[in-house]
Amino acid sequence: MDEPFGLRPLQVAVLANLKKNAPTWPGMSPDQWDDLDSETTVAALLAALERGGHRATFLEGDRTLFGNLEKLRPDICFNICEGHFGDAREAQVPALLEMLRIPYTGSKVLTLSLALDKPMTKRVLSYHGLPTPEFQVFERGGEPLDARLAFPLFVKPSREGTGMGVSAQSIVHDEAELRAQLRAIFARYDQPALVERFIEGREVTVGVVGNLMPPVARRMPEDEGAPRVSKGLHFFPPLEVDMARYPAEEGGIYSNRLKVELAHEFHYHCPAPLRQGQVERLQRLTAAVFRVTGCLDVARVDYRLDAANGDEPLILEINPLPGLNPGYSDLCVEAAADGWSYEALINRILTEACQRYGLG
Ligand SMILES: Nc1ncnc2c1ncn2[C@@H]1O[C@H](COP(=O)(O)OP(=O)(O)O)[C@@H](O)[C@H]1O
Ligand SMILES: [Mg+2]
Repeated sequence: MDEPFGLRPLQVAVLANLKKNAPTWPGMSPDQWDDLDSETTVAALLAALERGGHRATFLEGDRTLFGNLEKLRPDICFNICEGHFGDAREAQVPALLEMLRIPYTGSKVLTLSLALDKPMTKRVLSYHGLPTPEFQVFERGGEPLDARLAFPLFVKPSREGTGMGVSAQSIVHDEAELRAQLRAIFARYDQPALVERFIEGREVTVGVVGNLMPPVARRMPEDEGAPRVSKGLHFFPPLEVDMARYPAEEGGIYSNRLKVELAHEFHYHCPAPLRQGQVERLQRLTAAVFRVTGCLDVARVDYRLDAANGDEPLILEINPLPGLNPGYSDLCVEAAADGWSYEALINRILTEACQRYGLG
């Protein structure tokens, strides 16, 4: 791989929301904070940045952050905050950093708010002709189902991650199952439900680091050749979740249980056994999603390969804050399969951000 460590020593603040620091209340859903980070991840980030020659300090991304940033005065923040509350919770810390004029790694406010809202992201993808499963958003249990959608369908919350609200029960085969699942989502997550065509097929995810060459302008360059779409990005080998190794009752779904309870016994193929043409198609789609959603520095795009349609890749979502647990997060596994150490991955993300800001 190319050099990741070419920066002058920087004061880096690692901003995260630790599961152990998150607020709790009686009757809280047990998966409430499943998308927050562990102390293991934060310790690994600090160590990786220090090995990159920097001074790294952890700051919790909550209401204490403002004062702590004023005290520490970092050159740059390595941001992985998922936030606690609100529809744009992943964008709150970046918004504060922009107010304070402090540089930070990764995507900015608009991208982070967009990507947290899966239906809105799908509307943007559809506008650009990018393939994503047909869908309908439900705000109430009694709304009629669009005639375009046929069972089986897949029901999930509109604005969660880490498989929250996703299990084998998300696959619904008839009206009664659909209505029951909609009620369950409304009761537990208090937000609209996203109903999609159920895509039977393989589960693949593609990680990327880098930045597109300007001008990007959140559009597809219709007038330019294919290489232009992804220039500036480094793709990691696609990872396929090996569903055959999980109990049949998980329904072949990359569920909350697989991502949280069974995270330490992750079964996957990386690189995924795909033909070169399929890998190229996935890379082009990943670059296109990165481009039209305005991502920066790093992202991961999740796909299902539609078995009913010649394994055509369909975009499920984009993760501009992909998990960075060194042991089992998809992006770290993909980087390792590409011969990158964890340290190289983390310092590359930092370098990408520093180059954008003209730092280092
Ligand atoms: N339309 C669908 N058809 C089949 N499986 C789906 C569909 N949407 C989601 N899934 C399954 O649910 C998992 C989680 O969905 P995803 O949209 O990626 O949300 P999360 O943010 O929780 O990762 C996917 O990895 C996939 O296994
Ligand atoms: Mg996903």
